[in-house]
Amino acid sequence: QQRMANSNLYLDYHGLLLPKIAHTEESLNYLQNFQVKDDDVIAVTYPKSGTTWVQEILPPLLNGGDLTSVETIPNWDRVPWLEETRASVVLDKLHSPRALVSHMPYNLMPSSFFKSKAKVIYVARNPKDVLVSSFHFHQMASFLEDPGTFEEFVDKFLSGKVFFGKWADHVKSWRNPELGDRILYITYEEMFQDLRQVLGRILKFLGRELSAEALDRVVNHGTFKNMKTNKMSNYSLVPENIMDCKKSPFLRKGIAGDWKNHFSPELDAKFTAVIQEQMKGSNIRFPWDE
Ligand code: A3P
Repeated sequence: QQRMANSNLYLDYHGLLLPKIAHTEESLNYLQNFQVKDDDVIAVTYPKSGTTWVQEILPPLLNGGDLTSVETIPNWDRVPWLEETRASVVLDKLHSPRALVSHMPYNLMPSSFFKSKAKVIYVARNPKDVLVSSFHFHQMASFLEDPGTFEEFVDKFLSGKVFFGKWADHVKSWRNPELGDRILYITYEEMFQDLRQVLGRILKFLGRELSAEALDRVVNHGTFKNMKTNKMSNYSLVPENIMDCKKSPFLRKGIAGDWKNHFSPELDAKFTAVIQEQMKGSNIRFPWDE
C-alpha cells in the first residue's frame, strides 16, 4: 500500500514538518495564543526521546504519588501536547499544577511562555537510538512518510526532512541561556540506568517531595514492562490503520544502545561526523559522547 506524498502528510510550520493528523492551523494558533501559567511544568522532547515515559512519571510526581490518572487517562489527554489538536479540548480542564509536553523548538513556543516562570524538563536521547526508534515508528504509523531503507532514512534524519526537523537544531534551541534555572536537562539514558535517581532530581527541581514508598510506586509503574501493558500508555487504543502495533509496537524495545544492532561501522562514522558538525560550537556534552 502506497503512502501519500510528503506534502499530503505534513504541513510546513516555519520550516518544520508537522504531521497533519495532529497538527492543524487551528491547533498551531491555539499554541501561539496559549496562556502558560507560572506553575506549569512542560516536558520538552524531540520525538522518540522518551515523551511517553515522562507522560507516565510526571503526574504522580506532581500529585503525591497518586497513579489514578496514569491508569485511567490516555497519555495524550493526561499530559497533552501544547501543539496538537487535543490541546484545545483538554488543556482547560487540567488542574494546576499542569503537566504538559511539547516537541516544539524553543523559538516556536507561545509568547506567554517567555514571560512566565513555567519550568521545563528537557529530555534528550542518543540521536542514534532516536533514529532507530523513529525508523520503526515510521513503519507502523500511517500518518508518517514511508521511511524507505534504513540508509535512506539516515539521510532524511540528518538533513532534517523528518517531523520536527533536525535533532541537533532542537537540542541546541533549548540550550538558550535565557532559560536560566527554569530548565532541567535529563537524558533517556539516565532514566534507563537509574530511574529513581532521575525522579529524585526532578522532584528537587520542582521543589517537591515524595515518601520513599510513593517513589517506589512511581518507579515501578514507570518500568518498560509495566508501561507496555498499560493500555493508557501503550497506544493500543489507537486504531490499527493509524498505528499498527503488529508491525512494530509503540513501546518497542525500550533500551539504550539498540543502534548497535542497526548501524554498520561506516554508517556510524558518517552519522557521528554529521552530528558533530551540526553540534559544533555548542559545548554540550551528553553521556553517550563520553
Ligand atoms: P524504542 O523504539 O527504542 O523502544 P516517545 O515516547 O518520545 O515517542 O519515545 C518512544 C521511545 O521511548 C520508544 O523507544 C519506547 O520504547 C521508549 N520508552 C517509553 N517508555 C519507556 C520505558 N519505561 N523504559 C524504556 N524505554 C521507554
